[in-house]
Amino acid sequence: MQVQTDNLSPEEEIKRICREVVARVRPDEAERREVKALTEFVIARLNEKAEEQGVEARAISVGSTARNTWVSGEADLDIFILFPPDLSEEDLKEQGLALAKSVVSGRYEERYASHPYIHAYLGAHEVDLVPCFAVKDAASLKSAVDRTPFHNEYVAERVRGLEEEVLLLKRFLKCRGIYGSEQRRKGFSGYLCELLILKYSSFVGLLKNASRWRFGERIEIEGRGKYKDRDRNKEKEKDALVVIDPVDPNRNVAAVVSLDSFCRLIDAARDFLACPDASFFSLPSEAPAKAKAKAKAKAKAKEEREMSRAEFLKCVEERGTEFVMVLFEAPAVVEDVLFPQLRKAEASVARLLQREEFEVFRSDISVAVSAAGEKAFLVFELLVWQLPRVKKHLGPPVTSKHHAEQFKKKYIKLRIENGRYVVEVPRKYTDAVELLKNELGTCGLGKDVRGAVERGYEVLRNEEIKFFPGVGSFFKKYFG
Ligand code: UTP
Ligand code: MN
Ligand code: MN
Repeated sequence: MQVQTDNLSPEEEIKRICREVVARVRPDEAERREVKALTEFVIARLNEKAEEQGVEARAISVGSTARNTWVSGEADLDIFILFPPDLSEEDLKEQGLALAKSVVSGRYEERYASHPYIHAYLGAHEVDLVPCFAVKDAASLKSAVDRTPFHNEYVAERVRGLEEEVLLLKRFLKCRGIYGSEQRRKGFSGYLCELLILKYSSFVGLLKNASRWRFGERIEIEGRGKYKDRDRNKEKEKDALVVIDPVDPNRNVAAVVSLDSFCRLIDAARDFLACPDASFFSLPSEAPAKAKAKAKAKAKAKEEREMSRAEFLKCVEERGTEFVMVLFEAPAVVEDVLFPQLRKAEASVARLLQREEFEVFRSDISVAVSAAGEKAFLVFELLVWQLPRVKKHLGPPVTSKHHAEQFKKKYIKLRIENGRYVVEVPRKYTDAVELLKNELGTCGLGKDVRGAVERGYEVLRNEEIKFFPGVGSFFKKYFG
């Protein structure tokens, strides 16, 4: 399908690439019909069952399948079940889940992040069946998901005619690994993509703006945002991007977008506009379109294979660093609960290492499935992992009379260095692994991770690191 492109202007080249991508990612008529039929079927069943069970509830279709903004082959049906707002949380949960379960025949899971719902597998499709309250407006919600029907109302009519622009954006972000608002990813949600397209009218319009975004960029579609960028947590993490929710001016739709996801979009927008290329829309596992068949197959095979232990050890040797993995059984909670806890643990363990003068170069976290079940791990790459026995302990400035006296009572052999007392003491841990084996419990770990760690954990260095499935691809991405 290679087209002569030499004499196209950059704008024309971008248009050509976008047309090609849209043709690939836009659901065809058959897929649209199938998704619509399945949605209608599930909704009718839910409403029937509700009547049978004497439950006052009404099912509606929301999300990308209700707005024709889903990427071909990735249709997840989002069906919300609206209950009267005067129902108790308890009853909503009980009646909602019971109703949802009564219409799914095959495999399903009960999921809880902040809210209970059913995730079912119907043929080739995944379906979210989410009970919520039918509140009168999005500002008086009783649970976090009550806004969704209002999102649907807002976007559905406005996005008409712009669906292809949304698809381009979703695909572009997905190929950068920043599509999706899950805690694991901290990227751009489907709803956020739709709002960005509404704001800038087109995919390219968004890219042009994004290439000039500043930290804390604020976007208001309805121009009446009350949302204040507050310090959302103790780490004083500011929102990288603020997009006021048009249905609830107190909410930032982009609150979960991490600083790095935000910057990845800015960087990719600039690169694409400067050198438009179809490869921006292919996943890393897909071989580049221009490669010759043989090289293509080889590249693909290499891409799909996980990094082996031998390859890992070779990388480690070349870098001259030390890798330390803290490995334990993943607690049985959903990813959106687990990942923030793993990140908290990562930061806390890194601080412990630094405090003890081991130098952390990089760190990361993940989960993978071993023969013995799902494992979670923290990985620290260290510049310094072994230290001499002697350690410098700083005392008070000599001029602080009271503190100086206290310090001199405690230590005999001291000297003065840059105006302060200094003593040399033996170091408790001269090896980073020993430190973690003994002191991990003193770190801030989060409830479920702490529980898991208390049931047992291993601290492994370089060649001891276990390569069960998933670990190889974790390191491949790490070194990639
Ligand atoms: P989905 O996660 O299924 O997203 O949430 P989507 O918009 O349908 O996009 P894709 O194509 O499946 O990836 C369904 C709806 O739930 C609300 C939004 O209204 C969304 O459209 N939602 C979901 C949020 O408001 N915030 C979120 O973080 C996730
Ligand atoms: Mn969806
Ligand atoms: Mn969904």
